[in-house]
Amino acid sequence: MQKQFGLGLIGTGFMGECHALAFSAAPAVFGLPSVRMEIVADIDQRAADAAARRFGFARATTDWQALVADPAVDIVAITAPNVLHKHMALAAIAAGKHIYCEKPMALSLDDARTMAAAAQARGVKTLVGYNYMRSPAIALTRKLIEDGEIGSITYFRGLHEEDYMADASTPFSWRCRRDQAGSGTLGDMGSHIISLALTLLGPVESVSADIATVITERPMPAAGGARESRTEAVAVTEGVMAPVENEDIAHTLLRFSRGCVGTLTTSRVAWGRKNRLAFEIFGSKGSIVFDQERFNELQLFTRDGVAPALNGFRTILTGPAHPPYGQFSPAAGHGIGFNDLKIIEVAHLLAALANDTPLYPSFADALQVETVITGMLQSADTRQWVNLAQL
Ligand SMILES: NC(=O)c1ccc[n+]([C@@H]2O[C@H](COP(=O)([O-])OP(=O)(O)OC[C@H]3O[C@@H](n4cnc5c(N)ncnc54)[C@H](O)[C@@H]3O)[C@@H](O)[C@H]2O)c1
Repeated sequence: MQKQFGLGLIGTGFMGECHALAFSAAPAVFGLPSVRMEIVADIDQRAADAAARRFGFARATTDWQALVADPAVDIVAITAPNVLHKHMALAAIAAGKHIYCEKPMALSLDDARTMAAAAQARGVKTLVGYNYMRSPAIALTRKLIEDGEIGSITYFRGLHEEDYMADASTPFSWRCRRDQAGSGTLGDMGSHIISLALTLLGPVESVSADIATVITERPMPAAGGARESRTEAVAVTEGVMAPVENEDIAHTLLRFSRGCVGTLTTSRVAWGRKNRLAFEIFGSKGSIVFDQERFNELQLFTRDGVAPALNGFRTILTGPAHPPYGQFSPAAGHGIGFNDLKIIEVAHLLAALANDTPLYPSFADALQVETVITGMLQSADTRQWVNLAQL
């Protein structure tokens, strides 16, 4: 019989709930052994208790260090703010636990390298939460590129834009602080489109970037008020503002090691964009267009075998022909949702732990994302192209 893994989940906000749901559902959806929902931790005891009741954890705590050290915990899932990822991951690695960590890995490339080296030395498995790459449409994109359907790749244009901080009255939060979040939109959303670019097209060689902070101060949350969470309304102290320390917008030129070029833009202040994680990939024989806001479909243009008068983009609705869609539904075009991407990600984690197979992206793989982010920040600072091999 396969081992049943015990889960310790840290954080019960937007991602904490998403992870808890995914660990509950993935075993049933993918036919894997169920997970023991062992302990959930949050800095707020009430939030931890509520999550334990809701998702069936045996215990709730405010002490993430006790969670990490607990012998019943095999997997530590980290969904706390960015600043804590390194401390939590290093403690979990020292305790010999496998780690499922939210992105970005850490506040700096040096910290991310420390985490990757520690995991490798201890021999634990790691997975970083770049869930958008789990989508059936992305798997299809990868196959189309590998099969040469659009020829040799010439150009990539990527975006990740949202408007969750477009309103200047949205309160200051940990996401605006360098010591808590590191970069701004780059680590928060840019990391996702960078992870897709790397997954689909391979390593980036050099970048030439610029960044901007357009809302330079935000209302300060009231002391002792609600937790700084995206899932809860936050009370503010009237008239007290706090300076925003990281970028709202970042964009860059890219040169990929495979020889193609590209551009990439990310913004957290793009009104009307709710999750516009999108790309256009052009090749010598065709092109592929994807938008996460409509992620159950893919646009494909191929030149070959189509009469010129009928040539144009065609829309492919994903279905059971596009794994792992069929795990969720036998009917094409009915669609899967955001939380299903996390379910697919958790299934990848559980299968790799059960079968001792590699995880992607591990800490070692996700270092490449951190390298592109660091290169972009350095390029924006120096106003020079940055060769990533030199970082
Ligand atoms: N993969 C994705 O699509 C995605 C989406 C959103 C956020 N994220 C990442 O997930 C992480 C969390 O983001 P979020 O949106 O869930 O934030 P959030 O603010 O909604 O939740 C963070 C949670 O961590 C808890 N917390 C804070 N300090 C803690 C401590 N010391 N011990 C235990 N719990 C603590 C908070 O109380 C809160 O419940 C971030 O790193 C973020 O970049 C990933």
